[in-house]
Amino acid sequence: MPSETAPESADDVDPSTLPLPPYPPEVPSRVSQFYQQASDVFAFGERALTSRDVVRTWMPGRENYLLGHPDHLKRALLTDRETFGKSEDFRIAFGEGLVTVEGEEWRRQRDALQPLFTREAVTEYADGMTTQIHRRIDRWSDGERLDLQAEFTDLTLEVLFATVLGRELELDGDERLRRAAERLHGWFQPTSYVLPNWMPTPSRRRFRSGKEAIREEADRLLAEAAAGAPSDPADADDLLSLLVGIRESGGTDSAMLSDERLRDQMVTMVFAGHDTTTTTLTFACWALANNPSVRDRFHEEVDALGADPTVDDVADLGVTDRVITETLRLFPPVYVIPREVREETAVGGYRIPEGANVLLPVREIQRDGRFFEAPTQFRPGRWTGDLPRELHDFAYAPFGGGPRICIGRTFALIEAKLALATIGRRYRLEWCGTNAPSGEPPTDPGMTMRMEPGQRFEIVER
Ligand code: HEM
Repeated sequence: MPSETAPESADDVDPSTLPLPPYPPEVPSRVSQFYQQASDVFAFGERALTSRDVVRTWMPGRENYLLGHPDHLKRALLTDRETFGKSEDFRIAFGEGLVTVEGEEWRRQRDALQPLFTREAVTEYADGMTTQIHRRIDRWSDGERLDLQAEFTDLTLEVLFATVLGRELELDGDERLRRAAERLHGWFQPTSYVLPNWMPTPSRRRFRSGKEAIREEADRLLAEAAAGAPSDPADADDLLSLLVGIRESGGTDSAMLSDERLRDQMVTMVFAGHDTTTTTLTFACWALANNPSVRDRFHEEVDALGADPTVDDVADLGVTDRVITETLRLFPPVYVIPREVREETAVGGYRIPEGANVLLPVREIQRDGRFFEAPTQFRPGRWTGDLPRELHDFAYAPFGGGPRICIGRTFALIEAKLALATIGRRYRLEWCGTNAPSGEPPTDPGMTMRMEPGQRFEIVER
């Protein structure tokens, strides 16, 4: 087991004098590395990082450098972030939206969008969230066996559209848009990921058609926003009205606010803003169903509210809060944060070459026994003691960290808590799927972590 502190001092040396990181000694053959990554990327990551924090892995046409210590995460996201840039894959896929741009352009975009994501703004959205949550879960019935991941995919898209994107989706319609949102993840299918970006694969074709459909929707919403943009951008409460309002009032530079850039921004928000919360809700339900004593405490807490939760209750929902926190620790939707090294550098006594693909394995760091007791167990109670105060500041990073920390985290947390608590007042959920012998749920690592498709929960009316 490596030590709790990464050997930072080793990083002060001239990197060109250092060796490249080793391949995982347990899997020295490059071909086996490739097959193991393709068949079970989580098991492979755990094995590769068992006894070291820096390791190199091979795939056809690319090598990845895993930096598995919170000190490394902190360096890449905060203290040395100029060296660790955003990777090109995202820009090719998503254009010039907030997730991909860098430098001054990123600062301007972040400042422009921030007003939609402050606590105050999210509080304003909360009624809209609640309406969407009720609309969907009111249709569930006692004894039904539901694919909750599919339900939450719909719900989180409905919430995102009704709030940040400013239009309510039809409950049983808008199929094209729903399908398009799903297809955005096709770019990062493991089977395509190892192939050059120019190569057309079925999942990349699906990705392109999904992206096109969302851009068309952006055009429709842009026309509406242009017709009704408030005279003061500060009064805008959705993405496109805000950006069109800034444009019309002559604020900030025009390239950032071109129609093309606004389309990219919309695709970015749909991509970043719903699948992640879907995963959080699905795995939280799995965790509750598989931990009856936690589930009892959760039901007690939400029953004590006396009425369906509102945003004013969220701060008092301690058990619900810890269930979400612990779910995001064990099952971080963004289970690995990618970066590209801008200039040769040293990490943990190894040389990381210019242009290297760096992977920051959030899931493995959050399951590291050096930082968490009984790391693979679901124990929301661990967050009540001294842990939050004593924990390394980058040992828990489901939303990333540093200046590029997730802009939507308050939005996501309030949405997830409201949804879980509202469901918990009305229903108990029973898990119908089969866990792995280790007790882990059937998980499907794609672009974001997901449950294997088609897993069901029984809905029991309380
Ligand atoms: C539980 C839910 C969520 C999780 C776990 C999550 C996770 C993350 C992570 C890890 C990053 C940093 C990526 C990096 O550094 O490369 C990020 C960035 C981002 N997220 Fe989220 N996210 C969630 C929800 C949302 C929501 C609801 C929205 C929008 C409505 C959103 C929009 C974004 C955007 C635009 C960025 C880029 C921010 C920047 O680079 O300045 N996310 N998210």
